[in-house]
Amino acid sequence: MKVLITGGSGQLGRELQLARTPESVMFAPDRTQLDITDRSSVMAELRRIKPDVVINAAAYTAVDKAEQNFQEALRINAEGAEHVAQAALETGARLIHVSTDYVFDGRSDSPYAPDHPLQPINKYGQSKAEGERRIMTAMQNQAVIVRTAWLYATAGSNFVNTMLRLFRAQEKISVVSDQIGSPTWARGLARALWRFASLPVAGGAYHWTDAGECSWFEFSQAIHDEALASGMLARRCTILPIPTSAWPTPAPRPAYSVLDKQRTWQALGMESSHWRAALCEMLKDVTDNARR
Ligand SMILES: NC(=O)c1ccc[n+]([C@@H]2O[C@H](COP(=O)([O-])OP(=O)(O)OC[C@H]3O[C@@H](n4cnc5c(N)ncnc54)[C@H](OP(=O)(O)O)[C@@H]3O)[C@@H](O)[C@H]2O)c1
Repeated sequence: MKVLITGGSGQLGRELQLARTPESVMFAPDRTQLDITDRSSVMAELRRIKPDVVINAAAYTAVDKAEQNFQEALRINAEGAEHVAQAALETGARLIHVSTDYVFDGRSDSPYAPDHPLQPINKYGQSKAEGERRIMTAMQNQAVIVRTAWLYATAGSNFVNTMLRLFRAQEKISVVSDQIGSPTWARGLARALWRFASLPVAGGAYHWTDAGECSWFEFSQAIHDEALASGMLARRCTILPIPTSAWPTPAPRPAYSVLDKQRTWQALGMESSHWRAALCEMLKDVTDNARR
């Protein structure tokens, strides 16, 4: 199986490369090697490689900046995604596209089903929702769209790395306690995406996050306690819970963004790990690598 991964240098792109299955041939160009906003390059690259599967992990992900730079977000997340879909259709590749919980409004009090109506909470979510629509139109609903949330990996700008940095630098920090979601280790998502690639899964929307749910405050406490226990953190830091109103951001965030994963778990025959178990595995990976 020949697989082309776009956005190869992103946090998910790198984990996808690490999770490659041995029987596959993989191409993972970064943005400088394949810019998805360049329609003719995308077409030429797919014609050259002739992948069986394309995983579109390239995206504009600066959520707050997207409030001002909406056109740029649309150019990458909607037009770029559409280019990938058109090229996949023309060359006969299956497309697996990665999307976000921010395509929903965040007002639910039960997990969002994959077919829940899209009502993006912010501009970034709007650009991703438009990408989903364009992909499904271009590929006559045959694309697989995998929405995820609260993604983190060893490398990259994410909540876990931000917390570890703040715990070391400060005595006391404040973290929002009234937004609920599911933290997701990018490695688990990468494994799920490879499984999507290897199975004849029907086109449509799917959800993948780690299992369970928590607030950002609870997540930060878990990172703190596990980092302390593993020796990554030398001293305690006090974490104070605060409401969203005390931490205003340019882009609104969902109060509740837990995704219902049943369809994915059935289709793949595998379930997500609990978020806390995945966090422990990731931190262990970091300490093991540091010792090597
Ligand atoms: N991070 C999260 O919490 C989160 C949550 C929900 C969903 N997602 C989704 O998960 C996917 C992966 O996100 P991530 O966390 O891995 O983001 P990331 O680390 O920002 O990676 C995105 C990658 O896309 C590349 N890219 C940007 N514009 C491009 C273009 N025009 N052509 C080709 N590549 C381009 C970026 O390259 P440069 O760095 O060189 O610009 C970067 O390598 C995205 O679809 C995102 O929407 C993420």
